[in-house]
Amino acid sequence: MNLILMGLPGAGKGTQAEKIVNDYGIPHISTGDMFRAAMKNETELGLKAKSFIDAGDLVPDEVTIGIVKERLSEDDCENGFLLDGFPRTIAQAEALEGILSSLGKQLDHVLNIAVPKELLMERLTGRRVSPTTGKTYHIVYNPPKVEGKCDIDGSDLIQRDDDKPETVKRRLEVNEKQTKPLIDFYEAKGYLRQVDGNQDMNTVYADIKAILSEKRA
Ligand code: AP5
Repeated sequence: MNLILMGLPGAGKGTQAEKIVNDYGIPHISTGDMFRAAMKNETELGLKAKSFIDAGDLVPDEVTIGIVKERLSEDDCENGFLLDGFPRTIAQAEALEGILSSLGKQLDHVLNIAVPKELLMERLTGRRVSPTTGKTYHIVYNPPKVEGKCDIDGSDLIQRDDDKPETVKRRLEVNEKQTKPLIDFYEAKGYLRQVDGNQDMNTVYADIKAILSEKRA
């Protein structure tokens, strides 16, 4: 199962990715998570990415494509992968075609989680994450059992730096501009499947499972 999960910031990519990888046993490859881990460890990649992420801009294509190429070549991608947040530009999508063909792999589906833009600001500014387990919550839509604490390990939940309102606004603008051409790109190739992300998260996942259970024409 070789999958791409697309959607504007806050559409629910990470939330649904967690469910998909648990059920299908494929690795979750989130470029955003990879950049955040690199920033936390202050690696060269992290230092390169930080100024772009803090400003709500995209990290340059050559940096992003390089890390995905390396990751997809790892052994655990042998039986499938879930790309979350990559590709985000046509240049990345074209590069991905080359990477997959050099590895003898093909995409199965590109799932676009669609949510009206007006709802995304609230989803992102209300998001809280555990710095240790990476689990994501929402103060209203998906609260932890104990306020401010992760259900898994009790760690203190934090707000991502790029979830502050000023940065969210810029992220939404930047990503919106890139999304339409990408949707057209994958639609023309017959990979695109639209998912209504404006439903409760379990219903969104039920819709995704129904798509994944179909054979591609
Ligand atoms: P990244 O980490 O990929 O961020 P993003 O695309 O902005 O997406 P998010 O993680 O913010 O949202 P999500 O769709 O995963 O939503 P979630 O499930 O958490 O990227 C961060 C940055 O890295 C980028 O800005 C860029 O700078 C850089 N970057 C990454 N990839 C790149 C690339 N390919 N090229 C260049 N730069 C790149 O849900 C959000 C909230 O809503 C949560 O609180 C959740 O609980 C809640 N929620 C989820 N589903 C529902 C629902 N159905 N109903 C109600 N609430 C819900």
